[in-house]
Amino acid sequence: MKRFEGKTVLITGAARGIGLAAAEQFASEGAAVTITDIDEGEAVDAAERLRQTGLDVEARRQDVTDETEWTEVIGAIVAARGNLDILVNNAGAAFLKTVEETSVDDWRRLMAINLESVFLGTRTAITAMKEKGGVIVNVASIAANIAEPLFPAYNATKAGVAMFTKAAAVNCARQGWPVRINSLHPGYCETKLVADAVEGLGDAAADFAATTVAAIPLGRMATPYEIARPLLFLASDDAAYMVGSELVVDGGYIAI
Ligand SMILES: NC(=O)c1ccc[n+]([C@@H]2O[C@H](COP(=O)([O-])OP(=O)(O)OC[C@H]3O[C@@H](n4cnc5c(N)ncnc54)[C@H](O)[C@@H]3O)[C@@H](O)[C@H]2O)c1
Repeated sequence: MKRFEGKTVLITGAARGIGLAAAEQFASEGAAVTITDIDEGEAVDAAERLRQTGLDVEARRQDVTDETEWTEVIGAIVAARGNLDILVNNAGAAFLKTVEETSVDDWRRLMAINLESVFLGTRTAITAMKEKGGVIVNVASIAANIAEPLFPAYNATKAGVAMFTKAAAVNCARQGWPVRINSLHPGYCETKLVADAVEGLGDAAADFAATTVAAIPLGRMATPYEIARPLLFLASDDAAYMVGSELVVDGGYIAI
């Protein structure tokens, strides 16, 4: 019996990176997976590639900052599959700017993509899950736990995700609703999000990349699969007693 046989999974921002790796793993373990992304073309191509390997993966366009789209996406999954078992709030963005360099537009955009989206998704999913049960994994970051002078806005969004997750998780537990919610805290991982953010530093990019990798005790960034596997653990029944927890997966970065 595969771990996620018969389970319906929704992963946001899963056209690439950590979300796509998680989609492949969930589907390989028996789940019917819906990947959504603001980049519809990339999501459709990714789902098609996975379907060609025999996996049950479909793609939809979704802007996670749009409240109405959350109702539509989860409504469509419940209508087609009967219910939603697992939601992974994974979509995210990042930029490297000090506080003084960060504009109000930069700040608000990141709050919407990284934090408000998690509130909207969690709220919609709890409503869909509280009778039959379900699991929500919110992808935070070690940026929720330690500060980096070049990402104050990112730090704030991810710390918000972690604390929001705890409040929502404890509420479900106390209400007796069978919905578990936890946050995943990856360290640096080889994805476009990191590559683009570092590239945005221009001349300082190479130095930042070298200093960052040197600070990771394992001496390298994670692959998306090394983040996806612990993510699946949080979503699995093996994590049945985990409620409002932070699972750090960072090659030792914040241990020192
Ligand atoms: N890569 C890392 O080092 C790292 C570390 C810690 C946490 N994370 C978190 O992991 C998650 C996945 O990031 P990744 O590294 O795989 O990045 P990625 O850039 O490869 O993937 C992020 C995806 O989110 C999508 N997205 C952005 N805005 C969206 C929106 N408004 N609506 C829907 N989709 C949207 C993008 O199109 C992209 O496909 C993010 O929440 C990120 O903050 C990443």
